[in-house]
Amino acid sequence: MNKIKVAVLGATGSVGQKFIELLSDHPWFELHEVAASGRSAGKLYKDATNWIMQSRLNDKYGNMLVKNCDTKLESKIVFSGLDAGVAGQIESGFAEAGYIVISNARNHRFDPDVPLIIPEVNPDHLKLVETQKTKGCIVTNPNCSTIGLVLALKPIQDLFGIESINVVTLQAISGGGYPGVPSMDILDNAIPFISGEEEKMESEPLKILGSLNGKTVSNAEIKISAQCNRIAVNDGHMECVQLKMKKNADAYELKKILREFKSLPQELKLPSAPEYPIMYFDEDNYPQPKIHRNEGKGMSVSVGRLREDSLFDIKFVVLSHNTIRGAAGGTLLIAELMKEQGYFEKVLA
Ligand SMILES: NC(=O)c1ccc[n+]([C@@H]2O[C@H](COP(=O)([O-])OP(=O)(O)OC[C@H]3O[C@@H](n4cnc5c(N)ncnc54)[C@H](OP(=O)(O)O)[C@@H]3O)[C@@H](O)[C@H]2O)c1
Repeated sequence: MNKIKVAVLGATGSVGQKFIELLSDHPWFELHEVAASGRSAGKLYKDATNWIMQSRLNDKYGNMLVKNCDTKLESKIVFSGLDAGVAGQIESGFAEAGYIVISNARNHRFDPDVPLIIPEVNPDHLKLVETQKTKGCIVTNPNCSTIGLVLALKPIQDLFGIESINVVTLQAISGGGYPGVPSMDILDNAIPFISGEEEKMESEPLKILGSLNGKTVSNAEIKISAQCNRIAVNDGHMECVQLKMKKNADAYELKKILREFKSLPQELKLPSAPEYPIMYFDEDNYPQPKIHRNEGKGMSVSVGRLREDSLFDIKFVVLSHNTIRGAAGGTLLIAELMKEQGYFEKVLA
C-alpha cells in the first residue's frame, strides 16, 4: 500500500516531536513535511528543534527543511500541534484551502460543526464533518486530561449513566509544552493552577459524551467539578475521580466492565489502537506515571483503586500518557478511523 503523505504543523514543539516519533514507523502515513513558526522556517528540523524525545531523531526527519504553516504544503492531511495562540486562524485557513486538519489545539473544539473525538468513545460524531462549509475540514482531539478521564468513563456512562463527577488532576510538566514551567518553579513543588484547564475538563466531556442529533451534538447532562495541579513528573497525567451514577453498580462489576471495554478502533484493528483501551490494576499502589504511562504503547489508560466513596458512589484513579493518548497518538488514531471510514476520500474528492 502506498503511504499517505502527511504534514505536522507545530512540528518543533512537545506534541510535534511526539508526532515525528510516532510517524517514523507508521504503516499508513508518511511524514512528508514539517512546519512551525517563522522562527524555525527555513532551518533544518534538527537545528530548529530541541529534540527531547527518548528515541534518536531519525536523520531523514532531522534533515528536513522546516516550512511555514501556510497552504503551500503538498500534504493534504495535516496534523496540528500548534500553539493555541495561533492555531485558530492557521487551521481555518487550511480547512478553507481544502486540507484535512486534525488538531490538538483548543481553538475549534466547540465549533458546532467540528467533531471533538475520542475514537473509542464517540466515533459517530465524525459525521459532523459533512456539515462543514469549507472545502476541507477540521477535526479536533480533546484536552490531554479530558481524554484519559472520558475514556475511563465511557463504559460506565453506557451501562449505568453518570450524574456527577469530581476530578482532581496531577499533571505532568510536558503537558505545558516546551520548555514549560521553569525548573525552579516546579522542582520540589506542586502548582495548583493550570490556566484554562479546569474549564476544559468541565466542558469537553459533555460534548464528547453527548449525542449526535442530525447536524449538532446535544451535550450530556453531567455535573463536573475539576481541580488541576501541575506536578514534577515528566509525562503522564494522573486523575483522582469521584462519581455519582444514575444506576447502582458494585466495584466488582465496574472493574469487570472497565477491563473488558473494547470499541470500534479495536474492532477495525486500527494501527494505533491498543488491544485494551483501559488497563485495570488491582495493586493498591497502582497506577503510577513512571510505571504505567506507556501501557499499550502509551495509548491505553491505566485505572486502579476503584472503591466505594462516602460522598459520591465510587472513586478511582486514572493515568494516561498526555503527549501520546492525550495528543499525537490520539490524533493518529482519529486519522486512522477517518481513513478507514472513507472520510479522506469524501473530503478530498
Ligand atoms: N503538551 C501536551 O501534553 C498537550 C496535550 C494535548 C494538547 N496540547 C495542545 O497542543 C498544542 C501544542 O502543544 P505543545 O505542548 O507541543 O506546545 P509547544 O511545545 O509550545 O509547541 C508549540 C508549537 O507551535 C509553533 N508555533 C508557535 N507560534 C507559531 C506561529 N506564529 N506560527 C506557526 N507555528 C507556531 C511552535 O513553533 P516554533 O518552535 O517555531 O516556535 C511549536 O512548534 C497546544 O495547542 C496545546 O494546548 C498539548
